[in-house]
Amino acid sequence: MKLIRCFLAASLALASGSLLAQAYPNRPVTLVVPFAAGGPTDVVARSLGQAMTRTLGQSVVIENKLGAGGTLAAGAVAKAAPDGYTVLIHHNGMATAPALYRKLPFNPLTDFEYVSQVVDVPMTLLGRKDLPPNTLAELITYVKANADKINLAHAGLGAVSHLCGMVFRQAVGVELQTIPFQGTAPALNALLGGQVDMLCDQTTQTIPHIKAGTVKLYGVTTPARINALPQVPTLDEQGLKGFQVVVWHGIYLPKGTPAPVIEKVQAAVRAALKDPTFAQRMSELGAELVPDAKLTSEGLRSWLQAETDRYGPMIRKAGAYAD
Ligand code: MLT
Repeated sequence: MKLIRCFLAASLALASGSLLAQAYPNRPVTLVVPFAAGGPTDVVARSLGQAMTRTLGQSVVIENKLGAGGTLAAGAVAKAAPDGYTVLIHHNGMATAPALYRKLPFNPLTDFEYVSQVVDVPMTLLGRKDLPPNTLAELITYVKANADKINLAHAGLGAVSHLCGMVFRQAVGVELQTIPFQGTAPALNALLGGQVDMLCDQTTQTIPHIKAGTVKLYGVTTPARINALPQVPTLDEQGLKGFQVVVWHGIYLPKGTPAPVIEKVQAAVRAALKDPTFAQRMSELGAELVPDAKLTSEGLRSWLQAETDRYGPMIRKAGAYAD
């Protein structure tokens, strides 16, 4: 009898999952962004959402859910209904969170369905326009001499701007005061307004300001120069050997989302990457579309595992905990 009840319950769950998948999506889909509107993750999400709307036939609505370096948004999506209507976009922060937040209320490696990676984004090391040093070499000398006066903005522990700043401080061997914001959109505003001195931020937000000359640029964080800023040297080629921070993005659904729904979201992401408008916008902003092998659940899941294994020891060594 117990066996029959279990069988019936499983069949019902399967049937309702497949009904849900057939009708999906019949209302707007929410794409949750863990950082402030107008910032780099938001810029990628809004372009992606527009392109996905064209495939899904339903609006993809952006919800900016801020706080705790992206972990509030990720935690909320982990607990959302597994029906495909709540989707998360997040970056390297998914891999740094378990080490940074020792009381993290969700597990990035088990509490989600893994849809796909999307784009890789380089970062740029910036100073406020009137910061005296003009080159990376001058900047290093300057920060060493003025360590107690210089500050570095970031978007909270778990943000890539924080990670990049940490790698810079370690590479140069200097401690600087850090100032957290709820995204690099407000952090960049503070840099433009001269309230903070330095910021390491993604090209998806910084390129227009670099081109307008409203910030000082010291280099890109990729191993090689990038097409969107070919004249700009990397930090590595200017002497910070091995300096590399590249921002990767993943799309996640709550655990238990039916496989046919995951496949529909995946198909919409794939179509977005083939969409000329999306591809053109990303290329102008320095973002690189990921290869097909990363447009899969396994491509994202195994990358997340590898990145978690890479960052965990670094963070524990630095003792940089959020709690
Ligand atoms: C943002 O969108 O504000 C950024 O991705 C934050 C960061 O991680 O630096």
